[in-house]
Amino acid sequence: MRVRRCTHLLLEPRETVSFGLQALLRGSTEANSTHAWLALAGHLDGPVEIDAGQSELLGRTSASQWRTLSAQDMADPRWGQLLSSGLLVGDQPEHADHLARDQRIKDAHWWPLSAVAHRHSRWQGVDSVSDMRGQGLDTAVGLRRRLGAPPPAVHPVEGHYQPLPNVQESPFDALLAARTTCRNFDPERALPLPMLAQLLQRSVMAHAALQVEQDMLILKKNVPSGGGLHPTEVWLLVQRVEGLTPGLYHYHALDHALLALPSPPVPTLPSLARAMVSGQEWFADAPVLIVLAPRFGRSFWKYRNHAKAYRALTLDAGHISQMVYLAATEAGLGAFVTAAINEGDVDQAFGLDGVEQGALAICGVGYRALERSTAEFDPAGRSSR
Ligand SMILES: Cc1cc2nc3c(=O)[nH]c(=O)nc-3n(C[C@H](O)[C@H](O)[C@H](O)COP(=O)(O)O)c2cc1C
Repeated sequence: MRVRRCTHLLLEPRETVSFGLQALLRGSTEANSTHAWLALAGHLDGPVEIDAGQSELLGRTSASQWRTLSAQDMADPRWGQLLSSGLLVGDQPEHADHLARDQRIKDAHWWPLSAVAHRHSRWQGVDSVSDMRGQGLDTAVGLRRRLGAPPPAVHPVEGHYQPLPNVQESPFDALLAARTTCRNFDPERALPLPMLAQLLQRSVMAHAALQVEQDMLILKKNVPSGGGLHPTEVWLLVQRVEGLTPGLYHYHALDHALLALPSPPVPTLPSLARAMVSGQEWFADAPVLIVLAPRFGRSFWKYRNHAKAYRALTLDAGHISQMVYLAATEAGLGAFVTAAINEGDVDQAFGLDGVEQGALAICGVGYRALERSTAEFDPAGRSSR
């Protein structure tokens, strides 16, 4: 049997500090501290705890050169343990899944730290709302109480600041001022299809294209994009859009068209929506959720194993989401963006592998409800309600 180390692997010396109940009852505040080595691989969903011996063996096993295991090697249980965890990959049929997953990361040219950070910051089945509520961190007052005062809202540098003129406001300023994250959608009102079409046209449609070679096309959109690659794909979960059957869709940025995808039964869409936004019910009932999912492979085609590439993808998503907000505001709609998403559930629903392409953020749009039951941040009272 031949083995090699997986492509992207980081070892973390993790310390867990706990206070024993017995010790606390005795009045002792001494903490128990335990130490473990955690192996974080780019192709595995969770960390793997290893011991010093396994870490030593990983350290001297190549990720690029296969090693044939001798009979003496086979007697050492560490090889089998590391193979079954996926930290080592092998050429036997039982290792095919780990090998294929590892190969996909390698082929997609992920920078190692980004591969690990992306993989291990993905959520599946997380309810961020109950987690935050449980810790009293779901309101500004609760945050202040639990965490103390934040760093100042504006960072003053010692010295003399030159005042800038306040320029006369234009309608563009009024539009910007009306942009407020919507957490109260009208649960009855459907979104007219032309409004969704206009929003996509303004935020993610390709307005022009340059055919560089027969097999290389560069798109022009209203938003900037790192490397000009526009790798962010748009996938939709439609709940209430006039003229569209509720379900999952892919948006084609060149054709400005929607493709209906195999979808879960309509009655289960609300629970999928809620899972996608990790339990944030104030977002889950938006008429349409817009998943922003970079095609990592397209970005990393240019930025191979590049330290800045993943960062550029997150910035791209930010530009798109701001355009979604502004387009929605101009149309009299509410909009939101959230990064607190269950990428695992989203990727699964849309058939994305999380390596070549995967969800990064979710936006949503729709008519605002007349009443605000969930807090929105509109201190100047200029939102479009
Ligand atoms: C990257 C990003 C992630 C966000 N994630 C959440 C979220 O998970 N839940 C939420 O209610 N709002 C989320 N928001 C909205 C912010 O809370 C909101 O922008 C902020 O409170 C300021 O309010 P405003 O957008 O109305 O000006 C997010 C915004 C951004 C830019």
